[in-house]
Amino acid sequence: MKNWKKLTGVCALAAAVAACAQTDKVTTSEQEQTLPEGYFTNPLFANGADPWLEYWDGNYYLTTTTWTSQLVMRKSPTLAGLSEAAPINVWSDTDPARSWNFWAFEFHRLNGPNGWRWYLMYTSGVEGTLDYQHLSVLESAGDDPMGPYEYKGHFMPDEWNIDGTYLEHDGKLYLLYSQWQGDEQLNLITEMENPWTLKEGSPKVVITRPTLEWEISGRKVTEGAEILKHKDRTFLIYSASYCDTPDYKLGMKELIGDDPLNPDHWKQYDEPVFQRGNGVFGPGHNGFFVSPDGTQDWIVYHGNSKEEYGCGSTRSVRAQEFTWTEEGLPDFGVPIPEGEPVKMPSGENGPIKVSVQGVQQQLVNRDGQCLTTSGGKTSLAACTGANANWVLDSTADGAYRLAHVETGTFIDQNQESSAWVNTDTQRWSVTTDENGWLNITNRETGATLGGDNSQWRLAPQGDVAVMSVQSGKALAVDGDNAVQDAWTGVDAQQWQLSHTEEGFYQLHPAQNAEQCLTLEGNPIVPGANAALGSCDEVWSEWVVEPLGDGSVQLRNRHSSLALNVDSCGLANGANLAQAPWLDTDCQKFQLRESR
Ligand code: AHR
Repeated sequence: MKNWKKLTGVCALAAAVAACAQTDKVTTSEQEQTLPEGYFTNPLFANGADPWLEYWDGNYYLTTTTWTSQLVMRKSPTLAGLSEAAPINVWSDTDPARSWNFWAFEFHRLNGPNGWRWYLMYTSGVEGTLDYQHLSVLESAGDDPMGPYEYKGHFMPDEWNIDGTYLEHDGKLYLLYSQWQGDEQLNLITEMENPWTLKEGSPKVVITRPTLEWEISGRKVTEGAEILKHKDRTFLIYSASYCDTPDYKLGMKELIGDDPLNPDHWKQYDEPVFQRGNGVFGPGHNGFFVSPDGTQDWIVYHGNSKEEYGCGSTRSVRAQEFTWTEEGLPDFGVPIPEGEPVKMPSGENGPIKVSVQGVQQQLVNRDGQCLTTSGGKTSLAACTGANANWVLDSTADGAYRLAHVETGTFIDQNQESSAWVNTDTQRWSVTTDENGWLNITNRETGATLGGDNSQWRLAPQGDVAVMSVQSGKALAVDGDNAVQDAWTGVDAQQWQLSHTEEGFYQLHPAQNAEQCLTLEGNPIVPGANAALGSCDEVWSEWVVEPLGDGSVQLRNRHSSLALNVDSCGLANGANLAQAPWLDTDCQKFQLRESR
């Protein structure tokens, strides 16, 4: 992201083209450029292929291909914020049959057998080859796109299949995916029994085959099928030609009949609908999203900055608004050139009232009183009832917003709660002292929350999952030993935090309040093992320190060392012990709602 200074007013936009340089005192000698308030530039960030983006409950969530064994997600209340949001691994795998070359993650909110859940579909395979790439599906524990996610299965583990997406049509669910057949890479469709199971006997029908001249540049390829619905029409937007060429582009079909499994019911549009231009090469493998106020349609896609770049990590993530023609067809226009200011999606500045996703926590002061709000006025009250519940929601820029769950409002610099308007008046910096007390200061005014009574502690309510930022796996117990494990939601992965004194907490298995996460052996030694044990020793107490990226450090009260995943591994059963704080993902965790 460029080193932008922010300008406001009418000159701002023109300044970006240096028309107002004089009046806005923009001096080229500063070697800085000016970005008008409320604008961003593409690419959002480098190495962001096959992007998928959803705007949900007040935040944008974005996944991009990693090529590793981890599945990464970024979250921000603004589109521009995604360029600086922390990459959080929400899943990883070590099964040798499917834990390499993670590609093209998509997460769809579907009403499945377990109610509304996020179903995250992705491509992976085996080490050292791309010959065994195939699709798998994860299911979220609740309504948070960040998870935790449980592995549900793979549809066709014994054949090559990639780039999965869902089509919901006429009460049925379909899988669209891409597969080589001979020297052609095709998109196919088949009906599903549920989001992770193909329907027995449903045919696998080819719906795009690379035959047109613009579909066979480099190789004969159609892939990356994505569904775009508008009014009562259903479009299939797909990527065509070889992704390793600058002529990778988007094509379109439309469902003109009532049976998605009938190839004749898909009308081919003979010209590409989005292709290279303005210095952007190989634009493709896109997703779609709608602006926060629902008035604009946007496309998120990857592209290369140079003609010679190919299908690897040079592809960066970009987003731009698109419109519709009088005939009701999407008009994606031309890729916006890099560095050109792009106005943020409509509605980002609110006013937005929304109950954001995240662990519900009480904000408790030294006197044991809780922050509550009513009619926009905050007050201190007894720590009971939903009115005392807040989410400490990262704003992706090192700050947090204090989101009231019940009213969907956010605390501002006047310590009142109001609709989100995306200014620094509703952004707070959080620091933690050695005793676990938080100091929460307003980014606009520097004032501290609570005035003279400015020490707070966060009290998570109910059962929580403690997820590793490195592996996307859950803090669990194996016997009495603390380990990480792939999320399945079992009791051994469910925790409750109970306050002891000052700002310290003990972590109990949700089903066993008598045991605590503690340290074995000499509790001041780096490497002392984490395990379940007595709640009597002071080394069973922890500081849960919010970091600037929405994660927490779990710091032992006695040793001041950090909980750490041994060898920073991804394996199920990887051991947890304490270690000096090195600010690595191995020592960062995220609390998630677990049910
Ligand atoms: O980016 C990895 C893969 O490259 C994508 O899944 C596919 O669309 C393309 O072939």
